[in-house]
Amino acid sequence: MNILIIGSGGREHAIGLKIFEQNNKSNIFFAPGNGGTRKIGENVNLDLLDHQTVINFCSQKDIKLVIVGPEQPLVNGIADDLRNSGINVFGPSKNAARIEGDKSFAKDLMMVKNVPTAKFKIFHKSEMDEAIHFLENGNFPIVIKASGLAAGKGVIIAENFVYAKKNIIDIMEKLVFGNAGNTVVIEEFLEGEELSVFVITDGSEFVILPPAQDHKRIGDGDTGKNTGGMGAYSPVGFFDEKLENEIKEKVIIPILKGLEEADSKFNGCLYCGLINTINGIKVIEFNCRFGDPETQAVLQLIDGDFLGLLYSTAKGKVDKEIVNYNGGSAMCIVVASGGYPDNYEKGFEIFGLDEKFDDNIKIIHAGTILQNGKILTSGGRVLNIVSFNNQNNLKYCKEIGYVALDKVKFDRIYFRSDIGFKAIK
Ligand code: AMP
Ligand code: GLY
Repeated sequence: MNILIIGSGGREHAIGLKIFEQNNKSNIFFAPGNGGTRKIGENVNLDLLDHQTVINFCSQKDIKLVIVGPEQPLVNGIADDLRNSGINVFGPSKNAARIEGDKSFAKDLMMVKNVPTAKFKIFHKSEMDEAIHFLENGNFPIVIKASGLAAGKGVIIAENFVYAKKNIIDIMEKLVFGNAGNTVVIEEFLEGEELSVFVITDGSEFVILPPAQDHKRIGDGDTGKNTGGMGAYSPVGFFDEKLENEIKEKVIIPILKGLEEADSKFNGCLYCGLINTINGIKVIEFNCRFGDPETQAVLQLIDGDFLGLLYSTAKGKVDKEIVNYNGGSAMCIVVASGGYPDNYEKGFEIFGLDEKFDDNIKIIHAGTILQNGKILTSGGRVLNIVSFNNQNNLKYCKEIGYVALDKVKFDRIYFRSDIGFKAIK
């Protein structure tokens, strides 16, 4: 089967690699891909904003399935245009992608369907003074979110009124996140351990993949700025059958129903960003796609036909029996460019990628590029060191992960040294 994967991150390399390992008869194209994906398929340069170009490419290459990795093309409606041309797509419509692309839509829908989430209030463009007034009487810390897409940077946790007010002005008046800040959501700060749950769904039926925990902050001990994610592990110890049922009944079933009722039936991976509070599970956010770097860990724990799971979903009826959890554990350590998530330099040669690694290690690429025979850094998050084992032994994953990482070198390399710290005592 010919497959097109859209995106260039670790998530897309991990999805491609899983398909490559399980179905070596597939031809995989990546648009645009990275320095690692070219080894398992072909990187192609397509203008992703020009959907007709993508449709033409799919007809030319007889693409049977398009998998859309990142949120932006989904929010732009790429899945609608491909589907309207008769191409199977794993990924939601523009309407359904609002669950991530418009946080105010997501919050309103959660209210309507009674899905547990932080208490909140929404302020539109002309209501900045009201937002500031609301904050004057707020309980701190308080959470301020730009409603639109802001590359994972649009969430501010404010400890006091002065900082909160500054951020409201930055977002709503100075538009530091562009139009994403035309509307803001101000919400209650929740405490508890977070988990990311991937729901593969055709809009009604669904399969839940093993849950993961991300490490969003740049620094050890969860300090410093929020990033796209600096590491992840799966499964998550406190996720038991009782919690799984609670998530199904209170979150997944009602939100899928709500989406369908809002003319936004969801087809693809619904990412539930959850927090386990003393008052039960609550939703922090929904995303309309797989998480990165969680996917790099989660996919190591799936046996069966992963491509079949995505293909059956794209065709409209998710095959619920086609994959299963293999009982193991996995960890992903993100290797980044020094300076990320702010400014960083690119173009450094990466050494050590051809070293001999443990059999339970995979090196998954993100911001890398092949140039004149050398692999160079080309992004903030550069590589993912993924370790796994067939028992539930995260401590072992961590050990072999950091041993492997030690072999990889480039200028201004940066990584967290404590991935999994909440799970490994
Ligand atoms: P988001 O982009 O919505 O996932 O937010 C990024 C991160 O900010 C989350 O992973 C949480 O760590 C934190 N966060 C977001 N909303 C809240 C909240 N209501 N309470 C506490 N932390 C939050
Ligand atoms: N790792 C967080 C995300 O993919 O949004």
